[in-house]
Amino acid sequence: MLNVVIFGAPGSGKGTQSELIMKEFGLDHISTGEVLRSEIKNETDLGKIAAGYIDKGQLVPDALIIDILSCVLDSKQNAKGVIFDGFPRTIPQAQALKKMLNERGTDVAVMLNLEVEENELIDRLLARGKLSGRSDDNLETIQLRLDVYHSQTAPLIVHYKQEGKYRSIKGTGTIEYIFEQIKNIIATCQTS
Ligand code: AP5
Ligand code: MG
Repeated sequence: MLNVVIFGAPGSGKGTQSELIMKEFGLDHISTGEVLRSEIKNETDLGKIAAGYIDKGQLVPDALIIDILSCVLDSKQNAKGVIFDGFPRTIPQAQALKKMLNERGTDVAVMLNLEVEENELIDRLLARGKLSGRSDDNLETIQLRLDVYHSQTAPLIVHYKQEGKYRSIKGTGTIEYIFEQIKNIIATCQTS
């Protein structure tokens, strides 16, 4: 399996680029944010718990999200590979992902970090908030999401550097230009 972690701050373009990667390389896409929003929409018990965190810009507890990921991954057993979007977000999540993939005879091939300046992230999310209906796309929650990103999620950069899996991508410019860079990196993973 070809497993790609697409990484970056809120609004960095993870979802946008995942769509293009899926089409180009025939990979499946797991966005933990989308899984949680769907649970909220369907008013499930899990959705009710998740909403309490998402609306405050906080992370859903590791144990809960790792269980969800494990279930979703089981449904992807025949996939050519998976794009992990918004997971892992903490060191324990990264360790759990490695274990889950190793148990399935595979591993993360590469972690792609979309780098975008903070002002642009805020502008993008505020602009999206006007249309998206996402409960966390307002200035106050965006700031909290960015704080959480810096304190809990950004340490994964060092983690994946140590694993030799880290690749940095300039996440500004046109969506097509950014995707060209991603495409070139994933193509090398496929042949190695
Ligand atoms: P999640 O859904 O993962 O949200 P996020 O990380 O905050 O990121 P976004 O989805 O907002 O942004 P994105 O990077 O996908 O960018 P996009 O492509 O949309 O998580 C939401 C919440 O769920 C978390 O806060 C947490 O509570 C919970 N959660 C999820 N996963 C969890 C986990 N693993 N553990 C614990 N809790 C978890 O682009 C953004 C905008 O910019 C769009 O409008 C897009 O059109 C635009 N855009 C994209 N590319 C460009 C470009 N190149 N130029 C200009 N505009 C662009
Ligand atoms: Mg997203």
